[in-house]
Amino acid sequence: MVKYEVTVSTGNLVGATTFNNIFIKLVGTDGESERKWLKSIKGAASFIMGTVSSFTVSCPLSIGQLVLIELDKQPLPLFPEDSWFSAKVVVKSPEGFTYNFPIYRWITDGEVHRFREGTALTVFVDNHHLGRYSRQQELKQREHDYRWDVYVEGIPHCIKAETPLSLPCEVRFSFTKTTEFLYTASTGLTELQLKGLANSKKNWTNIEDLRRVFCFKQTDISDYVQEHWKDDDFFGYQFLNGTNPLLIRRCATLPNNFPVTDNMVFLHSQCNLADEMKKGNIFLCDFKRLDGVTANTINGKKQYLMAPLVLFHKTPDDKLMPIAIQLKQTPAVDNPIFFPTDSEYDWLMAKIFVRSADFSEHQLNVHLLRTHLLAEVFAVSLLRNVPMVHPLYKLLIPHTRYTLQINHLARLLLISKTGVFTQFAASGGEGMMTILKRSLSSVTYSSLCIPEDIAERGLEAVPNFYYRDDGLKLWDIIHRFVQGVLSYYYKSDAEVQQDSELQKWILDIYEHGFLSQASTGIPQKFTTVVELVKFVTMVIFTGSAQHSAVNTGQYDYGGWMPNTPISLQLPPPTTKGTTSEATMLQTFPDVGTTVQGMATMWLLSKQSSDFVPLGHYSEDHFNETIPCNLIKDFQGELEVLSVAIKVRNKSLEVPYTYLDPSVVENSVAI
Ligand code: FE2
Repeated sequence: MVKYEVTVSTGNLVGATTFNNIFIKLVGTDGESERKWLKSIKGAASFIMGTVSSFTVSCPLSIGQLVLIELDKQPLPLFPEDSWFSAKVVVKSPEGFTYNFPIYRWITDGEVHRFREGTALTVFVDNHHLGRYSRQQELKQREHDYRWDVYVEGIPHCIKAETPLSLPCEVRFSFTKTTEFLYTASTGLTELQLKGLANSKKNWTNIEDLRRVFCFKQTDISDYVQEHWKDDDFFGYQFLNGTNPLLIRRCATLPNNFPVTDNMVFLHSQCNLADEMKKGNIFLCDFKRLDGVTANTINGKKQYLMAPLVLFHKTPDDKLMPIAIQLKQTPAVDNPIFFPTDSEYDWLMAKIFVRSADFSEHQLNVHLLRTHLLAEVFAVSLLRNVPMVHPLYKLLIPHTRYTLQINHLARLLLISKTGVFTQFAASGGEGMMTILKRSLSSVTYSSLCIPEDIAERGLEAVPNFYYRDDGLKLWDIIHRFVQGVLSYYYKSDAEVQQDSELQKWILDIYEHGFLSQASTGIPQKFTTVVELVKFVTMVIFTGSAQHSAVNTGQYDYGGWMPNTPISLQLPPPTTKGTTSEATMLQTFPDVGTTVQGMATMWLLSKQSSDFVPLGHYSEDHFNETIPCNLIKDFQGELEVLSVAIKVRNKSLEVPYTYLDPSVVENSVAI
């Protein structure tokens, strides 16, 4: 007889414990063990959450190199069937070899579940027939468990699930996350001391009342915003380092529909537009995507959403100052171009309409579509097409944590017919789908890759652009890590080409995420290692860094409503000199709409207590020394960047924290 020492770890999660009987079968290249009931001196306590228990499995002869294990869980007559979350199984063979089996899965039924040994294997090197068989079986099951659904035609496809509980267990929120999320969602208004105001249809009558409502929950930055929201330089700053750093671009020629002239903007200055554009000092934000979008009706009142054009000038003291704003796309007498030299309220109202348009552009295009919905596509395609033993699965699965459930909840609570966004945002309802569809047709692969995006927008030299500075460094760090891991498994371009699972992953992304639009530049297949590395870098960057950049500051910049009104109740002035503080207050969203927006931004900016920072992998999916060392190097580089960002922030009037790796979460989880 030969003996195999089997060590089983139960995960440290609420509900991970099982009192059911666990059986194991070891399968090797030369044979297999019997199906063995795992009994130890701990008895019923063998599989309590966080415990590690040891067992012995005997075989008449060695079964060779271990290929996989089979686990099953059977209830006892007196105990109900429960769920078990096993973290990993380690087997020591009589020959002295150690085999690790990463599990990290919930086992809820009495079926046999197969798990491969932890050494990553692409399909073209997985030669053992049992390995290949289990690979096919796993993918067959996954195709059944993770099905594509069409939420609305023209936007990326999503996971098919009726309720959060119908999602497969392993992609659901943990108990902690569920409890916290539901608690904050249901108590957000109370926490903000706003509950009594949630249904108020009254208009704001003075700024003091707004200050009173706002004072219950403030962050350092939201405080600063309240003080500086009217300042032109801060207005400009937000297009670089606020929640939407993706719209601004260098302006080399004025758009035809924005007839700004020198005497409008450089009346008493030596500058002229042509020279300043040549020098790279003129920038533009064009919200053309919002042109003609039907605005919402809230509490029976028509709302207003503009499609502005904003021109900025970088001044010699490195400030980005707005110099002209046109609120609608077509020039007309009743569509004046506003300037800082206009009356205080004309200019302020123009900026308020821009900030409100930016709320819709940010939430729908930049946040929902370009991070949440794409991250879901990357995840569903991974889960359907790539088995656990594949290096791509091991690399990407931590970067998909909670994404399917948070998106399912967003569809349920934010953008459904009764959702907060549908009810209270100017672009809620019909307008939302128009914007999302237009946004998807304007997404390009290069715009998802920050080095190319910054270059295309001509923003390499803009001063004080911390999103760019930190984002480029993070991209490089992620790229080095991905390159290290993938070039360990793919030694040539031919190996990339012959990996059928990898090719299915990218094709599904192309078809279900980008709706087969070749103009996006999204690859339909991978032909080189270099291409693969770039795409996987983009996937990790999008779900971690990019999402943090556009998600984390929502309350910071949106909590003080006048800086980011989610809707506006009056149209903008059509002639100059007609506005006042009273006009502004009547234009702001009503009290109920304001506090609903504040509570939602509070919920979505709140870090969960089971947050996992970028590059931290609590599950050991990789076995081999090289990828394990690459993970350590990755963490080391992230730590160095985090320290550098913290030091830099000490000298900034408004610190830029959203791309500090210690703040960036591994996945789209909120
Ligand atoms: Fe988010």
